[in-house]
Formats: sequence, structure tokens, C-alpha cells
Amino acid sequence: MRIDVVYAPNAVTPADLAGRTVVVVDVLRATTSIAVALANGAKAVLPAASTDEALRIAQNLERDAVVLAGERKSVRIEGFALGNSPAEFSPEAVSGKTIVMTTSNGTQALIAAQGAREIIAGAAVNFSTVAQRARAALEQHGDLVILCAGGDKQFALEDAFAAGRLTKVLLPEGGLRRVTVNDGAVAALELARHYGERWARALRASAHGRELVELGFRSDLEMCAAQDTHPVLPLYADRRITAHRASNEG
Ligand code: MLT
Repeated sequence: MRIDVVYAPNAVTPADLAGRTVVVVDVLRATTSIAVALANGAKAVLPAASTDEALRIAQNLERDAVVLAGERKSVRIEGFALGNSPAEFSPEAVSGKTIVMTTSNGTQALIAAQGAREIIAGAAVNFSTVAQRARAALEQHGDLVILCAGGDKQFALEDAFAAGRLTKVLLPEGGLRRVTVNDGAVAALELARHYGERWARALRASAHGRELVELGFRSDLEMCAAQDTHPVLPLYADRRITAHRASNEG
């Protein structure tokens, strides 16, 4: 059984992920917003690599059925209906809609994971649901990658902490003796040990968390730190992220 934690998408190639189950984590804020959107009835979330690509994708969809969402430098992209605050993805805003989304790191990490056997979008808000699916994948395939979106191709504390929390709950009885982990996972476990279950503390300590507070998004941190409020399983396949039933079927 093997668990690898990777701290930024540029640290892996498609070949590294081929045939593997990948949990993509961008707690602040993309994978949180994706989980909230799907839990609130969005039909699908379509990640786009750039603003232009998002506009192109949206053009090919029925105008009334599509919502453009995303940020650059944490702020809503001009002309887009929604930014990247999870609270914006309310049932009124997203129910029945296809969300075309582009963000600085989160959607890039999802796109980088394309080609994996299964891609799950994970956050605190859907933590236990994602953990259940990841556990089933580990049992069936013996292998899991937790891919952190990071920040500007660098390590991000909040994602590393989330990866550590997930690794911790997935460890079989007997702990590290029974599973092969990379050094990324060992370091992530140390962070999980340090912060325990205090998501809010880890998020507030992170550079991006502090930046979001300065920009006036303090309430986003609270929403992103709340575990299991939106128990949805977002799976990314064929360029669409959709909500699936949490089950043990791989
Ligand atoms: C990202 O994709 O980099 C983040 O979700 C940025 C943000 O907080 O909006």
C-alpha cells in the first residue's frame, strides 16, 4: 500500500499519475468552492486553464445554463458572475447550472491530474466523504496520490495540512509500518500532528489565509475550515467535475 503527497502540480508529470487515484486539494479555496457548488445542486464544474479558455467553453454551452466563476490574485475575474468565495456558490446561484471555473492554482492542479485513474476534489467541507472514497481506492488498488494545488507552484501550508489529515485517517492499523509513504506524506503527517483537528488554525497560519483575511475574505476561511459541512464526492472525468454517491465501489 502506498500514499504519496505532492506539494505542487509542477512536481509531477502525467506519467507519474497515470493509472493512480489522485485527491486534488486546494482548501483555500477552489476545491472547497467546487464541493459547495456541487452540494448546492450545480450540474457540473468545468475547470478551465485560463480566462480565455473559460469564455470559450462557456460560449459552447447554453447561455442560461452556464455560470462563469473564478479569480486572479484572489479577486473575481472581471465580467464573471462569481469569484472564488465558497459562499457565492449558493443554491440560488448554482442549482441546475454548469459552472465554468478558472482559478490561479486549484483548477490548474485538477487539469494537471487529467490522465489519472480517478480524480477526486477534496477539501475540509467534504473531508470524510473524500476519505471514504480514498480508503476504498487504497484497498482496491493499493495506491493513492494527494496532490496539493499549492500557491504559485510552491508549497502551501493549508493544503499540506489537509494532505496530512487525510493521510492520517487513511493509515491502516499498524501505521507507517504497514504502508509505504514518500517524504511529502511524512512531513504532512507532522503538520497534522501539530495542528490536530484545528483546520481554522492551520488555515489562518498559512500565507494565503493571511492574504485572504487582508483582502476582506475572513469569512471564507471560516467556511473553508468547517469539516464535513458539504458531504459530496466530486469526481473529475472527461473534463467535468460532477457529484457522485459516496460508496465503496471503485
Ligand atoms: C487558487 O486556485 O489558487 C485558489 O483557489 C485561490 C483563491 O483563494 O481564490
